[in-house]
Amino acid sequence: MYNWCSLLAAFLLTQRMGYAQRQEMVMMQYFEGRMNQLEDRLAKCDQDMQNYEQKLYDLSKEVRGRLEALNVFKAEVKSQVESAVMRVERVERELEYLETEGPKQPCVEIDETLLEQQVKEEQQKKKVQINLGTDCNMALSAVKSLKIVKRAGDANGSWLKDPSKGSARRIQLPFPWQGTGHAVYNGFLYYHRADTANEILKVHIHNLTVNDRTLLQGAGRMPAYSLSPHTFIDLAVDELGLWAIHADSDFGGNLVLTKLDKSSLGVEHTWDTPCKSRDAEGAFVICGTLYVVYNSRYGGRSTVQCLYDVYDTIHSEDTPLLFFPKRYATHSSMHYHPKEKLLYSWDEGYQTVYKLETKKKNKVPSI
Ligand SMILES: *[C@@H]1O[C@H](CO)[C@@H](O)[C@H](O)[C@H]1NC(C)=O
Ligand SMILES: *[C@@H]1O[C@H](CO)[C@@H](O)[C@H](O)[C@H]1NC(C)=O
Repeated sequence: MYNWCSLLAAFLLTQRMGYAQRQEMVMMQYFEGRMNQLEDRLAKCDQDMQNYEQKLYDLSKEVRGRLEALNVFKAEVKSQVESAVMRVERVERELEYLETEGPKQPCVEIDETLLEQQVKEEQQKKKVQINLGTDCNMALSAVKSLKIVKRAGDANGSWLKDPSKGSARRIQLPFPWQGTGHAVYNGFLYYHRADTANEILKVHIHNLTVNDRTLLQGAGRMPAYSLSPHTFIDLAVDELGLWAIHADSDFGGNLVLTKLDKSSLGVEHTWDTPCKSRDAEGAFVICGTLYVVYNSRYGGRSTVQCLYDVYDTIHSEDTPLLFFPKRYATHSSMHYHPKEKLLYSWDEGYQTVYKLETKKKNKVPSI
């Protein structure tokens, strides 16, 4: 009985061991198969990678080649554009030359006596009633040279020189100012007081006390020049004294020129001019003639396109356009210095000086 039992147990044991070994072998075979599969796939991956690398290399070579061709093309376009710009500049210079050198000679015969008669009548009619005191017979003929003095700030600015005094000074004002239309004259600074519609202050530069003040009726409702929108009242000095320029919305946005008494700031006379404030960037007065400078919103060549002579001796329509030397920017202020015949301007943050050339007016003012 004991023997049978142990025999059976041994038999069962061997049976079980055999089963486990078979199972292990099956597992081994399975793993080996999987390993082979993985190895195959790795090899394929490797191959693919090599193919990709080759393709990438080919592609980058092609891109490099095309970029080089594009650079050649770009250089060609650039040189063509440059030569076009040069041609435009040459044409512009030639045009300017023609405009300044060749006044138009109309081929019309006019009855001389009739013309003279008409001119006399017109003069009688429009004869200026005020006496501005100084003999001044000068008209602007050209804006000559350009000198950039220095870079001094942002697009808003103004710089001035007292026609009667010398050295430069930095001063602290008793009240803030509006815009860039100030003027200095004979030791006084004249300016539009900030936060007022149209108050003009006259301040001693010496001790910065307010000497006088006035309200300029009708001013302050719109900017004087549409391209310099911060200036509502532009003050100017010429051979005859102090002037104020503003635009009047009741008057179609045209510029109004006012002669102020430089001591009392009283209004001596006011003229409604035909000059528009639209597309204007600044103006100045020489010998009682208002010259208005126009430009485009994008900045370009500044030109004097409208003038108004209070003596009525020169007229816009008889005067060729006056070009400023080329500079692609806009002027935020322009101040004429009568003794130096210079225009102190502020051009996109640059203090700029223009030399003005003048000629005798055609007719002597009949005052
Ligand atoms: C110029 O000044 C006015 C205010 O007077 C301001 O609104 C404007 O931003 C200024 N422009 C620049 C370029 O600083
Ligand atoms: C300021 O200076 C001017 C001229 O130099 C003088 O006439 C005026 O009295 C002075 N004002 C004051 C308050 O000192």
